[in-house]
Amino acid sequence: MQVTAQNWPYPRWVAHRGAGKLAPENTLAAFRLGASFGYRMFECDVKLSADGVAFLLHDASLQRTSNGHGIAGEQAWSALAQLDAGSWHSRAFAGEPLPALDNIARFCLRNGYFLNIEIKPTPGQESLTGTVVAQQAARLWLGAVPPLLSSFRPEALMAAKAAQPELPRALLIDSLWSGWLESAQALGCVAIVANHALWDKASVARAKDAGFRTLSYTVNDEWAAQRLLDLGTDAVITDRVDLFPPAA
Ligand code: G3P
Ligand code: MG
Repeated sequence: MQVTAQNWPYPRWVAHRGAGKLAPENTLAAFRLGASFGYRMFECDVKLSADGVAFLLHDASLQRTSNGHGIAGEQAWSALAQLDAGSWHSRAFAGEPLPALDNIARFCLRNGYFLNIEIKPTPGQESLTGTVVAQQAARLWLGAVPPLLSSFRPEALMAAKAAQPELPRALLIDSLWSGWLESAQALGCVAIVANHALWDKASVARAKDAGFRTLSYTVNDEWAAQRLLDLGTDAVITDRVDLFPPAA
């Protein structure tokens, strides 16, 4: 299907990095945990190994969320796939591997879950990452509801658009920088995903008037979620899969 702002298949609640902080972020274990709380859409961070495999990791460096060291994007997938991306979180998740995008695609497709792929390039690899992630996503999701591709990096979205223009894109913003709306238009985005504090009546109206869906990250308090619902925004990305029942 062609996802547009009018033809919008995604649910209102999105689990951040799989299951927020309850499981090691960006692992299949986190997705499974988020799903156990009823979540049907997930956000994850995707970058490239040195040999071009798209996989899940937030930071450029391996240090914080695995037993590896150095820049992940400088290492081959054969080495990255051996790492333990669970022990840093807790013993229950010891040995949990870094997932390739293929693994996550299979999990989502077989369960009918939706995905938001945040293209999180290793610095300097923005265009390459946008291109490869879009190509892999188009291949993996062929004939299914596609993942929403988002990024803070316009170059990555530009490359994704050039590679697979039919995949839906969203511009991530952490400030209302000059030209954010025009950039999202130029990138052919269907949505804006903003730091939730940026949304107010004026910014929501600007985005909606320009035809964009409005999403927020990372919403972990009930008052913040209620404010965003009252503003008429479309979806929130949360760590608190344990606090927010996704059907609500
Ligand atoms: O995609 C929304 C959110 O994940 C953006 O921030 O740093 O948690 O990836 P970050
Ligand atoms: Mg992210």
